[in-house]
Amino acid sequence: MIENQLWHPVIASTQVRDVPVGVALLGEAVVLWREPGHDGGHGVVHAWADRCPHRGAKLSLGRVLNHLRGARLECPYHGWQFAGDAAAAQVGANCARCVHVPAAPEFVPPVAHAATAFGAREANGLVWVRLVQPDAGLPAALTEPPTFEPWADSEWRQLLCGPYDVHTSAPRLVENFLDLSHFGFVHEGWLGARSHAQVETGQVQEGADGLQANDCKAWQPRGYAGAEGGAWVAYRYTVPHPYAAILRKDAAEGDPVSNAIALFIRPDGAERCTAWFAMATLGDLADDEELREFQDTVFAQDRPVVESQVPKRLPIGKDGAVGEVHSPADRMSSAYRRHLLRLGVSLGVC
Ligand code: FES
Ligand SMILES: [Fe+2]
Repeated sequence: MIENQLWHPVIASTQVRDVPVGVALLGEAVVLWREPGHDGGHGVVHAWADRCPHRGAKLSLGRVLNHLRGARLECPYHGWQFAGDAAAAQVGANCARCVHVPAAPEFVPPVAHAATAFGAREANGLVWVRLVQPDAGLPAALTEPPTFEPWADSEWRQLLCGPYDVHTSAPRLVENFLDLSHFGFVHEGWLGARSHAQVETGQVQEGADGLQANDCKAWQPRGYAGAEGGAWVAYRYTVPHPYAAILRKDAAEGDPVSNAIALFIRPDGAERCTAWFAMATLGDLADDEELREFQDTVFAQDRPVVESQVPKRLPIGKDGAVGEVHSPADRMSSAYRRHLLRLGVSLGVC
């Protein structure tokens, strides 16, 4: 299953501090814990199966120890200590060895006395976890968490919005994000207007690594939080991951604001997901609170419609099944469906 081999966002980075946190990913209970930082920096995050190999207790109920020989996670039941290996954590090689059994301090635990370790990374304000090492056939771009350049650029202002717990599949949500033609109806007066419902869908490039579309145009009465009037707005979209999409709007003549929004989604099963919007802006005078309110409002407009869609799984024509019908305005979503089919994605589609 390709989904297991992908990096998935599980929680905001700021939520993993000095105590372990339990999360669920693709049916797997995962404990996240952060090594104590040095020199004011943040320590590495580890993602392990949330189950002690001794008697099955939840490691997320335990404690982080700042041991002289490196950070450790202590099980809440018998206090066994498991060592974190920062380098191995990046790739998910098994690195969760038991190094101390307090009830038998002379005992040297063998290699098998280890918790299961997954890959853990931090990117775009989120912790990303990968459960299984990728097969050789996985496109190279999918062997890393998605890149979102404006998040790493200190000239831009960054803001993470969410999490939004949504009762639909991750692909339905990605498709909604790629869809310009709902703006005039779902976001009337904000991102679109009924009187200007026509959109231009740019050329879509489809590659093994993802999708890209330039020059997608829509008329927007209020395209961003601090906008003062309506304008035709040109977007660029990329789909770097089956459950992620990025849109960019670059500053143009008469419009000094550049905006980039990345949608990152944790699939919580086939018909449920948790979404974050990583926003980056250059030149928008709205403050963080206003930006967040704007995003919350826009998403509150999308939610009832998206959660009403039947089926909740995105019909991509898997196993030759009949899908939905399209118009020329749906070029990007049709390309997205073909892309999922090509990749062999199975979770959240039908
Ligand atoms: S169950 Fe974890 S130390 Fe015994
Ligand atoms: Fe929308």
